[in-house]
Amino acid sequence: MPDTHLTDDKYIPPAELIEAWQEHPEIVKLGNPILRQVAAPVTRILTGETQKLIERMKVIIRKASGLGLAAPQIGVSQRVIVFDIDDEIHVIVNPIITGGRGEQLDPMEGCLSIPGLQGQVPRFNELRVRGQDQRGRPISRKVTELEARVIQHEVDHLDGVLFIDRADPDTISWVHASDDEKNTAPHD
Ligand code: NI
Repeated sequence: MPDTHLTDDKYIPPAELIEAWQEHPEIVKLGNPILRQVAAPVTRILTGETQKLIERMKVIIRKASGLGLAAPQIGVSQRVIVFDIDDEIHVIVNPIITGGRGEQLDPMEGCLSIPGLQGQVPRFNELRVRGQDQRGRPISRKVTELEARVIQHEVDHLDGVLFIDRADPDTISWVHASDDEKNTAPHD
């Protein structure tokens, strides 16, 4: 992995995307150093503080029509991710990925913290994710395809890694608001 911190300055949103960057101000945008920090494990899940964090993440992911959201993206450097698969918001606390195998290239990835930017990111096509659910119960699930992609993207957030660090640089581009029909990248 290259020195990722140096890449952030390369991506200045074009003028027509400024509004998109100002939308959902509760979501931290590229350039905020919290996105480059390694988030801390959650030691106590059943506290009011952690439960409130998770509930807030569920509200924000829905409001922003996101596919996935990691706690650092709302300014909390803790290891919690949520993602929307099959119209259900899944929560994983302290997620750990093992057994990644196979490769997928599509769909293009985007990120709620970098509105309008997309790129092609090679990801494992299947993996096992372990962690805990919102009630603190252990989770161990084998996932594939889009769900596997989203989980890899969100766990990267917990390690201060963004999709622009992993994307093929030739595929990274701004999708303008007027290009709605092309704007198919999931927003993680
Ligand atoms: Ni993201």
